[in-house]
Amino acid sequence: MAQQGAAAAPELVFFVNGRKIIEKNADPEQMLLAYLRKRLCLTGTKYGCGGGGCGACTVMISTYEPASKKIRHYSANACLLPICSLYGAAVTTVEGIGSTKTRIHPVQERLAKCHGSQCGFCTPGMVMSIYTLLRNHPEPTSEQMIAALAGNLCRCTGYRPILDACKTFCKESICCQRKANGKCCLDQEDNLFDNEEKVSTSLFSADEFQPLDPTQELIFPPELMRMAENQPKRTLVFRGERITWISPVSLDELLDLKATYPKAPLVVGNTSVGPDMKFRRVFHPVLIAPARIPDLNVLKYTNDGLTLGAACSLSLVKDILTNAIAKFPEEKTRVFCAVLQQLRTLGGEQIRNVASFGGNIVSRKSTSDLNPVLAASNCMLNLASKGQRRQIAVSDIFADGVGNNTITPEEILVSIHIPYSRKGEYVSAFRQAPRRENALPITNAGMRVLFEEGTDVIKDLSIFYGGAVSTTVCAKQTCWTLTGRHWNEQMLDEACRLVLKEIVLPGSAGDENVDYKKTLMVSFFYRFFLEVSQSLKTMDPCHYPGIPVEYGSVLQDFKTRMPQSIQIYQDVDPSQSPQDPVGRPVMHQSGIKHATGEAVYIDDLPSVDGELFLAPVTSSRAHAKIVSIDTSEALKGAGVFDVITAHDVPAANEFHFSDDPEIIFAKNEVICVGQIVCAVVADSDVHAKQAAAKVKIEYEMLEPVILTIEEAIKHNSFFEPKRKLEQGNVDEAFETVDNIIEGEICIGGQKHFYMETQSMLVVPKGEDKEMDLYVSAQHPAVIQEMVAASLGVPANRIMCHVKRVGGAFGGKIVRTGLLASVAAVAANKTSRAVRLILSREDDMVILGGRHPFMAKYKVGFMNDGRITAVDAIYYINGGCTPDESVLVAEVSLLKMDNAYKIPNLRCCAYACKTNLPSNVAFRGFGFPQSGLVTETWITDVADKTGLSPEKIREINMYKKSEQTHFKQTLDPQNLIRCWNECMEKSAYHSRRTAINEFNKQNYWKKRGIAIVPMKFPFGLGTPYLSQAAALVHIYTDGSVLLTHGGIEMGQGLHTKMIQVASRELNIPMSRIHFCETSTTTVPNACASVGSAGTDVNGMAVKDACQTLLKRLQPIIEKNPTGTWNDWIREAFKQSVSLSATGYFRGYNEYMDWEKGEGQPFTYFIFGAACSEVEINCLTGDHKNLRTDIVMDVGCSINPAVDIGQIEGAFVQGVGLYTMEELKYSSEGVLYTRGPDQYKIPAVCDIPEQFSVSLLSPSQNPYAIYASKGIGEAGFFLGCSVFFALRDAVTAVRNERELKKTFALNSPLTAEQIRANCADAFTGMMANNEASSSLGHICVNGKP
Ligand SMILES: Cc1cc2nc3c(=O)[nH]c(=O)nc-3n(C[C@H](O)[C@H](O)[C@H](O)COP(=O)(O)OP(=O)(O)OC[C@H]3O[C@@H](n4cnc5c(N)ncnc54)[C@H](O)[C@@H]3O)c2cc1C
Ligand code: FES
Ligand code: FES
Repeated sequence: MAQQGAAAAPELVFFVNGRKIIEKNADPEQMLLAYLRKRLCLTGTKYGCGGGGCGACTVMISTYEPASKKIRHYSANACLLPICSLYGAAVTTVEGIGSTKTRIHPVQERLAKCHGSQCGFCTPGMVMSIYTLLRNHPEPTSEQMIAALAGNLCRCTGYRPILDACKTFCKESICCQRKANGKCCLDQEDNLFDNEEKVSTSLFSADEFQPLDPTQELIFPPELMRMAENQPKRTLVFRGERITWISPVSLDELLDLKATYPKAPLVVGNTSVGPDMKFRRVFHPVLIAPARIPDLNVLKYTNDGLTLGAACSLSLVKDILTNAIAKFPEEKTRVFCAVLQQLRTLGGEQIRNVASFGGNIVSRKSTSDLNPVLAASNCMLNLASKGQRRQIAVSDIFADGVGNNTITPEEILVSIHIPYSRKGEYVSAFRQAPRRENALPITNAGMRVLFEEGTDVIKDLSIFYGGAVSTTVCAKQTCWTLTGRHWNEQMLDEACRLVLKEIVLPGSAGDENVDYKKTLMVSFFYRFFLEVSQSLKTMDPCHYPGIPVEYGSVLQDFKTRMPQSIQIYQDVDPSQSPQDPVGRPVMHQSGIKHATGEAVYIDDLPSVDGELFLAPVTSSRAHAKIVSIDTSEALKGAGVFDVITAHDVPAANEFHFSDDPEIIFAKNEVICVGQIVCAVVADSDVHAKQAAAKVKIEYEMLEPVILTIEEAIKHNSFFEPKRKLEQGNVDEAFETVDNIIEGEICIGGQKHFYMETQSMLVVPKGEDKEMDLYVSAQHPAVIQEMVAASLGVPANRIMCHVKRVGGAFGGKIVRTGLLASVAAVAANKTSRAVRLILSREDDMVILGGRHPFMAKYKVGFMNDGRITAVDAIYYINGGCTPDESVLVAEVSLLKMDNAYKIPNLRCCAYACKTNLPSNVAFRGFGFPQSGLVTETWITDVADKTGLSPEKIREINMYKKSEQTHFKQTLDPQNLIRCWNECMEKSAYHSRRTAINEFNKQNYWKKRGIAIVPMKFPFGLGTPYLSQAAALVHIYTDGSVLLTHGGIEMGQGLHTKMIQVASRELNIPMSRIHFCETSTTTVPNACASVGSAGTDVNGMAVKDACQTLLKRLQPIIEKNPTGTWNDWIREAFKQSVSLSATGYFRGYNEYMDWEKGEGQPFTYFIFGAACSEVEINCLTGDHKNLRTDIVMDVGCSINPAVDIGQIEGAFVQGVGLYTMEELKYSSEGVLYTRGPDQYKIPAVCDIPEQFSVSLLSPSQNPYAIYASKGIGEAGFFLGCSVFFALRDAVTAVRNERELKKTFALNSPLTAEQIRANCADAFTGMMANNEASSSLGHICVNGKP
């Protein structure tokens, strides 16, 4: 065997944060992330997905190349990086660049001080992406900066504050240049804010920032340089429990190895092999790592092109092509440009830095962005096997139509040759993905044409597609047929028809996704046609007319630019004490710790002696009887301790919060895919997961299987009670209206996608059945209650602790209680500590999310736009157990009026019982869906009356103090102010004119704009749900320890509570500390939900502080010039208690559903948002150009936190309404199980101009310091993007004289946009509305 002769390297040597690591037992299965976290206890680097899709695990890798004497620094995802690949490398983690114990790094400081962290879970990854960029480019351009963050997801902030921090490092001006004259809108000279109030636009002070000093950075370890220069390279072999890793140093050795192990994959970046092994259970006993072989890293310019080694990273290829394009004449670099075009958006930077050029080609994934363009451009592959070398065209490997051709198992790819383009040759590449960046394509293409010299006669044509079928495919027949033809409309028409005939897509005709892919295929060709036609014109304007000017803009792809943003809020009164922090943009209490990685989340807690890891075993059937559970194989697994089932639950396995139970372990029957049937506990998470996969469950299918709302209606499957609200006389009103419209809208579900997955550590204390529960949860009291009930012990034995939560959004309440019960039952049975950290995949499969929604409506209105009658039915998909579904349905009814007074209104809401995982609370709680329905019928009325949607909104908006449809009085003054201010700040009317003009001048690109008002009622419906308590201790050194029942999950609650205590006690914030929320300090606390955290806990904290101050008052009066410490010492001497509880009884809210009236809310939050978008009609792609939000938050306690909440919620709303799409199989199995398939907004999705203004002055008599709870309200405003997209689609349809009425569902994806921009291309699909109206494709005139 090849490696037998080679000296095996017994030790793996690398550095982490300047410290030498010698690993004697390097396991090829071990990824760097687990090694850092578990082995080195460096827990700053986080787990978010494990598949390279979220960036939470970003670290910097540095390597030294002795030949060039260059050090390369690059960012990488630690979750996909095998430690064996790190021989001789230096790893830098977030802990390595700065800490509160030594010195924090400027990146960490600025990210924290610019309010770039909320829950803080994504922050270390963000820090490392920015840090790595700065190591390579100390003064980056904003383009480089935004590209560096494409692979990092944040679910909380909406990215704006992160980018604000980034801008402080960029060399360009950070001015917004928003004014017509290019001046900054912050320039107060022109009095942009002609407002009496003193407003501020600055949330941080850049003067405080330390300068970036590159000389202070950790140097590359000299020992590694010496090692690289002096030690001869030798083969490295690492043997693990199951896998052997061999890293040869010469090509010959590699070929020998390949001959011996033909089935062993070559691993370079591990971005293809890694996910296959992790998620698809592919197993390889031998892995060969060829990255160090010089032949695989060549860069060679030849007479006819450029040869690049197969192991070159995609980033390196990108740099090389960029340089080549700058160096050579344009005519020679068209292939380079097309390849580069794909590389810009392929993965994120972390992926491109490690993924190899050869790996992308050879893995032959249908989603490869490179293969179609490389195949179309006649790129060549240099292959080698033992004793043999040969060259083949990239296109050859796809010649058999299934991508299996030609490369033999013994063969390896040495290098790739990319040719120069020739005179008269044009090459292009296209892609459309669910998100513009860091997303695999839905369909892509590479196209090339070569003309007979000096003519437009096709000499050679090449068309390849990716994403369409299981591999890259060539439209060979089409290309042959068209050879010899002129480049004109007839050729185009025929090309499209031939392509559609030749490339047969799996799936039935009429399947939307198939139609979309086909439409993209011909639309891409059309775009190629336009590009080439334009190039021909440039070459010979006399003979070739080019394309109409209004077609030109479609040749430009949307680009991600550094957004410009502004935040406007009311300054504090100048007379306010400088020490009083209320009303000031104070940094998040944990901001710096988030940025240094010191903030501790559940899985960062050090391991407890004898601790076990738990892996759940879940149902693979939606509705079935459990016939048997065979755990015998699992129990034999390495490190396995036990398998836990329902029989091990000492007391309650079910909880009856309503009629149907919530279940810990399925017992006889499963009711959804993902339901927990049993769980394996083992000595490591790897062993637990391996064994969990071996548990065999036999099922017998049960009928019916109900997955959708339609199926639930058919089977009359609902949770009780059903709810109805009615006001006025709806039936009579319909008799008298001018017009009636009826419609229907479906709104898809949404996953919470909190960055910290469900996590808990349960520690039995060994006496009196006491147990400590460390859990990432929003409602510790319910967790305590459920765990106690499942174990059959009193609640006083269960201590539940929550320090912070890495995002929750409503998803960590009852479901977390069930998971905690699973872990507690296991801990109880084994008498060991049990850690349960769900993988992203399990989290998405086991947990539900936002309720999918279907609404049917009938609306009666007058010709002048007055809506007088609405009759609606709402159905929500509750999933398999009730959770809070009925409550969500109720809230959707109560909030259905949004901002409008509808005199006659009737609506019923049904919560459907189905066989999906139980759907639960999610930010906005039913309002995001019912509000969208309302705004949809408003828009329908606008379409019908011919009036603009904003006119219909204004006509029907609440105007004076009036009663809502459940008879609660509402004063809409601030609603109207928000609306008017938003109209003005967004310059709505002038921009509407400009958009109309743009749309006239652009045929394939259209813009749209929409302004949406919002009334968001605040309240929890019942007084006891908003009670709160606090506990404040003052120690004799004057320091204060504060706690209350609220949970910090990113919303800045603890920061605000410290602000409150600081004001009340009149001491600086620095003297007050918050340690954790715990059921031991504040019992029976209500859940932190419904935007109420600050309101209710603030009252309790204030109460406790006032009690203490009252006790201190006599001492202060006696010694008014004394200090705080003097008073406290004196109080202690006088035996004055320095500890107090505070309490808030809750709001007086109620709702009588029998009568349909009540006072379920305490006050209203108002807002308005105006968004502008641009769509590409050929692909359905869009760009968010600008959003202006005006929000009434009362008197903000912390404008930085409140604005952060508004922006973060808005961007999450944009996700719901435009991109987050859940896909299930017909058997109820979730396909979208991670960030690779489920797309939440990334940095490329936020508006290019983003402004948030807090309405001032605004007072709220009902909440602490006249503030308003703001956590949820901003979410709904994301629908302004939905309606702006609708407006753009309307412009397309009006121009094309298509049917005026059309229905759009949420999320409004590129697929839906494309389908509604019907044209000749969609017309080529069966059953399309355009097929009869548009017969041919026209270039030199509109069809
Ligand atoms: C989060 C994420 C996002 C991504 N986004 C995109 C995207 O948008 N577009 C896109 O096109 N791709 C995307 N990819 C795929 C990525 O580009 C490929 O996985 C990568 O290029 C493969 O290279 P690698 O070095 O990591 O391969 P590895 O995983 O190391 O190996 C891949 C395969 O190629 C074979 N192989 C590698 N080198 C050779 C060689 N020299 N000779 C013979 N066989 C070889 C191996 O045997 C193995 O089977 C994404 C991947 C991830 C994880
Ligand atoms: S955890 Fe590594 S990218 Fe998500
Ligand atoms: S702060 Fe980014 S995920 Fe929470």
